[in-house]
Amino acid sequence: MTSTTEDVPLFPMPRAAGCPFDPPPGMLRLHAERPVTRVRLWDGSTPWLVTRYEDQRALYGDERLSVDPRQPGFPHISEAFQEAYARMPPSFLNMDDPEHARIRRMVTAPFTIKRIEAMRPAVQRMTDRFVDAMLAGPQPVDLVEALALPLPSLVICELLGVPYDDHEFFQSRSKVGVRQDASVEESRTASAELLQYLDAQLQAKVADPADDLLSVLAARMQDGELARHDAAMLGLLLLGAGHETTANMIALGVLALLEHPDQLAIVRDTDDPQVLAGAVEEMLRYLTVVHDGQRRLALADIEIGGEHIRAGEGVIIPGATGNWQADRFPDPERLDVRRDARRHMAFGFGIHQCLGQPLARLELQVVYGTLFRRIPTLRRAVDLEKIPFKDDGVVYGVHELPVTW
Ligand code: HEM
Repeated sequence: MTSTTEDVPLFPMPRAAGCPFDPPPGMLRLHAERPVTRVRLWDGSTPWLVTRYEDQRALYGDERLSVDPRQPGFPHISEAFQEAYARMPPSFLNMDDPEHARIRRMVTAPFTIKRIEAMRPAVQRMTDRFVDAMLAGPQPVDLVEALALPLPSLVICELLGVPYDDHEFFQSRSKVGVRQDASVEESRTASAELLQYLDAQLQAKVADPADDLLSVLAARMQDGELARHDAAMLGLLLLGAGHETTANMIALGVLALLEHPDQLAIVRDTDDPQVLAGAVEEMLRYLTVVHDGQRRLALADIEIGGEHIRAGEGVIIPGATGNWQADRFPDPERLDVRRDARRHMAFGFGIHQCLGQPLARLELQVVYGTLFRRIPTLRRAVDLEKIPFKDDGVVYGVHELPVTW
């Protein structure tokens, strides 16, 4: 029997009602039954979905796959994403080596583990200030607004040298950029405003450099190593990546721990930084908030998992299925903060592996390690069913998390 496009499952897939932390059951089924298979996207195209851990790791390291979204056949998230990539200069996340490596190198220094570790006291102070404000204010409070969003936003602003006072402006625009259902027009306006803003910030650093990342980019621009629009694009990538992902991990992670009191108790009661660090790895694995899959295009024919991917075909690598593979992480549906989850792929893998992961880890360790200790009776202020989940986002999380204590 010949298969038609209608037989091909639609992607992304819905999560099951009442199981907000589990990957979509349809995706787990494909992982079990057809680990390399075609799925159908919003535009009717049928790229490959590669769900098995070892195949995913192999593909992440395969130079026959490109991340350049301007090529025909690239499996786009939505029409707005497709249009934005066609219109805007790419950032290094969307470039292949050697250009990707050349630009990534310019911004790696501030993200080394040692440099990030030096920020721990400052991140602790900021977290304590937000928790102080929560404790001093009325209840219930929305944890997203009170802590999950402002903390990573403040941290990345300090690192880049962007005034935090402008956060409402850039947060509202970045929100549009991570919505799957944003219209072409909304996305165009939001990104143009953000690029203009970063360009102005960079020009200010040219005139008056400081000890921050935008000043490094401004100097590269002056040397002619970085074109003006590439510098603005790079600033935009760091600003957006620096707060959307971590904010979602904070809020969704807090909710997941509230739903698993035995695991929460381990996180709250430990004095051991290693236990806390291990718990963060498990939270990253369990929640895999970048849930739409990493998008790639095959530049040559590739044999994988018994299937033949042809040059010019799209490939989607969803971290959640690899991170929920039972022979890698036994009983993957169990949140177990004491397991060794270090080989998860929540930050991707290979040359495009998350640049900001040391910073994300630091923020998550400080937040999970502080919040439940300082507010031991923290609890949801509404029923779980009332919490709005971000099924519509490129990054999964919650829009709001009302809490009380
Ligand atoms: C919990 C928080 C975070 C998660 C789950 C996360 C996840 C990811 C993932 C999955 C990728 C790989 C994309 C791909 O292969 O196509 C990535 C790349 C990247 N992330 Fe993160 N990220 C987080 C926080 C951050 C932070 C705080 C920054 C800081 C600026 C950041 C900056 C970047 C950059 C620049 C890239 C592109 C790297 C490249 O292409 O070479 N991320 N991230």
